[in-house]
Amino acid sequence: MAGSGGVGARGAPVGKEKTSQRQWRQAAGPGVARGTRPAKSALYDAAGSRRPIIPASTFSPFPVRYTVLALCAAGVAAGLGGLALAPPAFAGPGWIALAAVSGALTILGLRDLRQSRHAILRNYPVVGHLRFLLEYVRPELRQYFIESDREAAPFSRAQRSLVYQRAKGEPDNRPFGTQLDVGETGYEWINHSMQPSRLDGHDFRIVIGGVPAPGAAPGTGCTQPYSASVFNISAMSFGSLSANAVLALNKGAKLGGFAHDTGEGSISRHHRVHGGDLIWEIGSGYFGCREADGRFSESRFEENARDPQVKMIEIKLSQGAKPGHGGVLPGPKVTAEIAEARGVPEGVDCISPSGHGAFSTPVEMMHFIERLRRLSGGKPTGFKFCLGHPWEWFALVKAMQATGITPDFIVVDGAEGGTGAAPVEFIDHVGVPMQEGLLLVHNTLVGTNLRHRIAIGCAGKVITAFDLARVMALGADWCNAGRGFMLALGCIQAQTCHTGFCPTGVTTQDPVRQRALVVPDKAERVRNFHRSTLHALQELVQAAGLAHPRQITAHHIVRRISATEVRLLSNLVMQVAPGALLGPLDDQHTVFRNYWPLASAHSFQAVDPAAYAAAPVTETETAP
Ligand SMILES: Cc1cc2nc3c(=O)[nH]c(=O)nc-3n(C[C@H](O)[C@H](O)[C@H](O)COP(=O)(O)O)c2cc1C
Repeated sequence: MAGSGGVGARGAPVGKEKTSQRQWRQAAGPGVARGTRPAKSALYDAAGSRRPIIPASTFSPFPVRYTVLALCAAGVAAGLGGLALAPPAFAGPGWIALAAVSGALTILGLRDLRQSRHAILRNYPVVGHLRFLLEYVRPELRQYFIESDREAAPFSRAQRSLVYQRAKGEPDNRPFGTQLDVGETGYEWINHSMQPSRLDGHDFRIVIGGVPAPGAAPGTGCTQPYSASVFNISAMSFGSLSANAVLALNKGAKLGGFAHDTGEGSISRHHRVHGGDLIWEIGSGYFGCREADGRFSESRFEENARDPQVKMIEIKLSQGAKPGHGGVLPGPKVTAEIAEARGVPEGVDCISPSGHGAFSTPVEMMHFIERLRRLSGGKPTGFKFCLGHPWEWFALVKAMQATGITPDFIVVDGAEGGTGAAPVEFIDHVGVPMQEGLLLVHNTLVGTNLRHRIAIGCAGKVITAFDLARVMALGADWCNAGRGFMLALGCIQAQTCHTGFCPTGVTTQDPVRQRALVVPDKAERVRNFHRSTLHALQELVQAAGLAHPRQITAHHIVRRISATEVRLLSNLVMQVAPGALLGPLDDQHTVFRNYWPLASAHSFQAVDPAAYAAAPVTETETAP
């Protein structure tokens, strides 16, 4: 009741006003929606006493929420009055300032009342802007004051700090002991040896390509195998990254002797300045190797692929953050440099279709791989993907079996991976996480006796040496990091990559913002991050008594599964025996029993198993 509070509209605090509105709705009955003004008859109590049950404040011509606007107007009056009336001793710029600031805020408040876009500003002129301001600075407030060290979003403060320290070459040791809860389910560790090994260095390398296909003529296949570091820069295009970021990454790769994946935006002039090893990624837009109409161009591909700086060719099928989703770089963002790198017209929307046009069946894809390998002069050629339907992956393996053509490598990207921009549903709910994808890819290749011909890389939040060791234990030969290297460049995880307003110049095309990223300094940081991470990996490998991280297996990693139980990862994850998928599948994991029969080398669609068995390999599909 209005009287019960004893406070009229003008003096009522906001909370009071809220209460009054609730009373009003209750009195008006359930049919009256929030904010709806009830019929006048509903405003008096049932007894018809004409005693108002709705507070007077509800109908006040001047609700309390306009107080700030009123104060601003009063400020104008006071300022002007002061200027006109104050004795000379009290006259001064203060009155002018008061009138000017109050005047500006009053104009803002009147504008708020008139505009129709933001209801909050219509109801709360001037003061309503605080909400937008606080929303705007919320991520920073959260990051600096609220977020805990281990809260991942997507990288925790602890992870980011480690990268920064390693990138700056600062000591990364920690005092006192672990901050992790070793009794928590999911806690993992690597078992050490009583006889640690001693290694000379940490330049761990693996050879990709060069394993001849059975019966292949000499000089065919991959004739230029690549000796790759076990830790490389993941695919990120010039366009999603700034020119200075690309320059610093590539220089860092050159200094540290590791590889830099171009991303699907192809090879820009910035990739070529410092000469760091490149993995050239070919996406569905065939950037850097396309005809004007977007079809794959052999001659343009050959020209770029034969560049000695290009060490490997990677066909991008999908990326973990947005598998099955194409992309559009809007025309205004297609600058002259981006257009030059991609081979597209400047200022025109640049489209990456969601699928490839150069092949439409798994067998055709194997022939495309063989074609690229030949055109590149025998460089390792493989593909990157995020696992989706298991039968599609099995279809690729069946195509390898049917054609005898195998990629030299496969990069498995996880759903946890990053992107410059993607729809939130794709970021959050499309694609298989890296661990599950990696396990299926590795085990399928082991089970079909193809594993020794195909190196496996993977990407998905690999930041520390333990992350590296763990995924190598699950079957990877090497790892790529995207955002880890962005952090090394100085990225502060502001998550504004898609806006062009990156505060550290990593993901903007704005030439002024990019100047914040000083290439020689950041190139050193990229090299340092790589070097320190591999040094830490060396120490882990030594502690486990091994000679190379490739020797780390699922038998070395232990996971807590309850307060009282732990298991070796080898007892928890799928482990297919060599050749086991070549015979009956009855004893195999259900993923093989259910989906392997549905896969066909001739189609990405799931097929009727009986129809598949009868289908011959057609001529168009086998032609090289
Ligand atoms: C800004 C940005 C741009 C990316 N661009 C590409 C791309 O062009 N091609 C691609 O295959 N993946 C791209 N990715 C995905 C990364 O290569 C990587 O697979 C993924 O982020 C997982 O690695 P991470 O967790 O170490 O970042 C991009 C990621 C980011 C953050």
